[in-house]
Amino acid sequence: MAGRIPEDIVAKIYDENDIIDYVSQYVTLKKTGRDYMGLCPFHHEKTPSFHVSREKQLFHCFGCGASGNLVQFVMRSENLDFMDAMHMLADRAGIVIPENGAVESDAQHEKKKRILAMNKDAARFFHGCLKDEKTGAKAREYFQKRGISAKTITAYGLGYAPEGRDALIKHLLSKGYTAAETVEAGLGVSRDGQIRDKFRGRVMFPIIDVRGNVIGFGGRVMHNEKEINGYTIPKYLNSPETPVFDKGKNLFSLNLAKNSSEQDIILCEGYMDVISVYQAGIKNIVATLGTAITENQARLMLRYASEILICYDMDEAGTKAALRAIDVISDAGGRSRVIRLKNAKDPDEYIIKNGVEKFREAVRNAVPSTEFKISLVKNRYDTTTADGKVLFIDETVNIFMGIKDAVEVDAYITKVAEDVGISRDAILAKYREKSSRNKFRSRIPQKSEYQKRAERETRRTVREENTSSKLMEAEKRLLGLISRSRKLYKAASEKMSPEDFSTDVYRRVAKRVYQCFENGETPEPAMILNDFEGGDLDTASGVFYNLEVYDGDEETVKELLYTIRLERLDLKIKKETNPAELSKLFGERETLLAEKNTWEE
Ligand code: GTP
Ligand code: MN
Repeated sequence: MAGRIPEDIVAKIYDENDIIDYVSQYVTLKKTGRDYMGLCPFHHEKTPSFHVSREKQLFHCFGCGASGNLVQFVMRSENLDFMDAMHMLADRAGIVIPENGAVESDAQHEKKKRILAMNKDAARFFHGCLKDEKTGAKAREYFQKRGISAKTITAYGLGYAPEGRDALIKHLLSKGYTAAETVEAGLGVSRDGQIRDKFRGRVMFPIIDVRGNVIGFGGRVMHNEKEINGYTIPKYLNSPETPVFDKGKNLFSLNLAKNSSEQDIILCEGYMDVISVYQAGIKNIVATLGTAITENQARLMLRYASEILICYDMDEAGTKAALRAIDVISDAGGRSRVIRLKNAKDPDEYIIKNGVEKFREAVRNAVPSTEFKISLVKNRYDTTTADGKVLFIDETVNIFMGIKDAVEVDAYITKVAEDVGISRDAILAKYREKSSRNKFRSRIPQKSEYQKRAERETRRTVREENTSSKLMEAEKRLLGLISRSRKLYKAASEKMSPEDFSTDVYRRVAKRVYQCFENGETPEPAMILNDFEGGDLDTASGVFYNLEVYDGDEETVKELLYTIRLERLDLKIKKETNPAELSKLFGERETLLAEKNTWEE
């Protein structure tokens, strides 16, 4: 990743930009112990769990797991890719990145750039077809029938993919793209040895990310038939996942919504819903890309909004999806409310029927998610009867159990008590009873998203590589300790080489740490983390950002080395089936245990 900029320039960029200075532009930081702390800019929180270390030039949030070095902070906060972030930091420090260094890029980066360029060309082509007097006549009529103005068509860059086999493919080939590239971009499909257009005879919705890249498309047929000549026709066709398009990580129209001055974002299900509402002057509205909302998408929205207003279809599927969205948003650390639209299928239909003022009123009256959940339960029971009341209260108390804020629970108990004519005390007693039954569970502190993710990552590694979570933990602590002390490094490296670590990520980290010491340098976590991405980055940053490894001495190293040896042996024992080998291994184990007893005396 860093190869594209000369190493010495990379080092200079890190030297001349201090992470504390930079992050302070976004976050009020307070010095606490070794670290600076503040409210995490990447998720919604009330108590600070965001650490920044000047010494290590790293940031880490113990709430959501956001973690990395300065350039990774810039990438996240500015939504830039690595190169753009480096350029920005270079500019900030007045460092010039030589041109040839910058353009020489790895194959993956080059590929993404080409697909994005191709997508942009395709979007222009579709838009041109829509505007074309003859080709676009039917499609323009379709949009007009749906009340979409020419101005909105321009704002969204809407288009039309003509009938026929390969109008777009021909155009892209003439621009110098290869047939294989069009397939990789999800614009071409290979059929009977021929490359055909994926989208044909559909009105087109380009999907644009927050940086303004066209990352994919949605295309809708211009009728409402579900079947033609016995073939089912999908109403919407979306681009497949490509190197630049991840449906779970992007949202339709967030590029426009993020510029709205509103505090919240309205989340709905359909592209047409978004466009219709936007046209009416409400710009803080987005939609998922034809799939259920993910935590990534929730976090993405929460970067720009303090609260998400869920505005899903009013049918059973929409209600179910809304309940799911409430939980996903809450898991991402955000708050949500639910907009209810009476007598309309979806926001598009509602705004056409009732006008924008009624829609604004519905937005103002959005109900808090707890209230929404309770009202759904209430619809299922006849609360005028005693039995109905019992069942209703029972389920409602279950909802209360999921609420973290005691004041909120109290307020809802009062409300529900008045609503169905049951005494507050009776409901409170029921709540306490259930809570105490769940006491064991509730006493366990809630795991943060980061912890959950790190644990998932560990489980995956344990499954895929020859290791155990105990072994990984010991290796992590050992690596963290030795990376900060030449003396401890010396003690460990006599017994263990980088190849001896049990997982790929730790072997790579160890190699860098050992290398640094051998070259007479001190390892810099920020530089080392540059080699990692995604789940690997979480694992690697755990080495340097682990509260437990702050302290330790030669004795600790000795103990860790011992634990590692013992764990390795136990792994072997677990796998061995040959009785003779097995008894040999048990013999080794005895010796090892005896060894520990001698140095503990
Ligand atoms: P119309 O008003 O009928 O144009 O659609 P809508 O915007 O109201 O969308 P709808 O509520 O029917 O569907 C919501 C979203 O689900 C759409 O915007 C698409 O992203 C997706 N979707 C709908 N139908 C299909 C389909 O047939 N296939 C796929 N893959 N996605 C679909
Ligand atoms: Mn609709």
